[in-house]
Amino acid sequence: MRCLREKWRDQHKWGNSVTDKNAESNLEANLMESVVFHTAKQSPAVLKHAVLETYLPPFIGKTGSTSSGGAIAFVDGYAGPGRYLDGQEGSGSLVLRKGNESRSIGSGRTLHCFFVEQDGPTVQRLAETVASESEGLPVEVFAEAAASALPKILDRTRDFPTLFYLDPCGLLIPFEQMSPLFERPGGLGAPATEVLLNFSATTLRRVAGHLSSPNRVERTLTRMDEVCGGAWWRQVWLDALPDKAAAEAAVVAGYASRMSAAAGGAGVWTIDVRRKPGHMPLYYLIFASRHPDGLVLFGESTSLALGKWREYLARLDAQDSLFAFGDAWVEDFKRAEAELEKAWVQDITLNLEALLSEGRSFKVLMRYNEVFGEHVGVARGKHLRAAWKDLLKRGVVRNSPVGVKDIFRHPIEPAEPAPTTLKFADV
Ligand SMILES: C[S@@+](CC[C@H](N)C(=O)[O-])C[C@H]1O[C@@H](n2cnc3c(N)ncnc32)[C@H](O)[C@@H]1O
Repeated sequence: MRCLREKWRDQHKWGNSVTDKNAESNLEANLMESVVFHTAKQSPAVLKHAVLETYLPPFIGKTGSTSSGGAIAFVDGYAGPGRYLDGQEGSGSLVLRKGNESRSIGSGRTLHCFFVEQDGPTVQRLAETVASESEGLPVEVFAEAAASALPKILDRTRDFPTLFYLDPCGLLIPFEQMSPLFERPGGLGAPATEVLLNFSATTLRRVAGHLSSPNRVERTLTRMDEVCGGAWWRQVWLDALPDKAAAEAAVVAGYASRMSAAAGGAGVWTIDVRRKPGHMPLYYLIFASRHPDGLVLFGESTSLALGKWREYLARLDAQDSLFAFGDAWVEDFKRAEAELEKAWVQDITLNLEALLSEGRSFKVLMRYNEVFGEHVGVARGKHLRAAWKDLLKRGVVRNSPVGVKDIFRHPIEPAEPAPTTLKFADV
């Protein structure tokens, strides 16, 4: 998930779509860092796309089961060209493939795609991707800015469960313009509304630098105020200094909690996306859903996506290594994964054991963070199941997870119930 800014910059041309004609566009050029040529996919995009790849099938399957005619919508608010110049899939191409895969297995679901892209040449490439890959899926391309397209798309998707994917290169649209997404009806029977957005860490760091700079540009700070829905983030950042990593985490958490509140108390996942483990975050993917199923499924998808990302990095390392022969890295990667998973299962087992020592049964969904501990979003149901089985074998729990479909909602029962407190009258 880590991204090295310099390498990323070297491999792309930046900002050409924004002219230098006036101060306003200079500012936008600074903040947007628009990737114009979309040449080849980089490590952070591998993770971002793996999240889409793993989350779209359950999203389509689950939300489409109750929608009229099995219709579901995916809105790509900053779509890009659909495919990179080297032929790899971008979000557009990936989403079309997932929509077609779902149709081809006779799921009875139809994914409606709404793609927004404001850069002329990129729109042209996007249109070509759609023409050659949509295979009859309903697709609309909006050649304009996300802010102006979203109200129209909101109107079109009113009756569809919808996943909004907002993935700019720099600053997001102002919070005020995002709010209508969350004003879609919620509650029982309402079509789902879920949002996955890219909150740029590098842009935040650069803009926040103005807060303590003698040459601060107030307009730059005001743009961030608009994105965050107020100037609150400035004090949050300053309060955490000199620890800039803590300042960044606090602002991102503040943004996520405002998103949650705007959506009427939606649950939120935040994933930090880096070029490699140990590097600074390049951006955060923030996901919001009003449905517990959406949150659990997204956690499962994130865990799978992280595995694909680690595999990508391992393959890359092997390609860079003088000693890499053929597929020898695959065995090393599998061994390393097995070690990781073993450690997660051990930790989850300990966490479960601590909770079971309270002597009461519980559903993992209700104590998700305590059960997964530091592995939230990294480990998944498979590891929970292994930990549960281990506890059964050791006689710590009395019920088995075997055959249980929804392991997060199924009560896990301690072998030893809590001792009953004797009342005076019982003695
Ligand atoms: C990070 S790229 C998109 C990558 C793509 N979503 C993916 O996952 O493969 C961001 C795209 O947003 C476009 N863009 C920038 N500002 C925009 C805006 N205000 N409205 C719509 N598109 C915009 C850029 O031209 C660029 O193609």
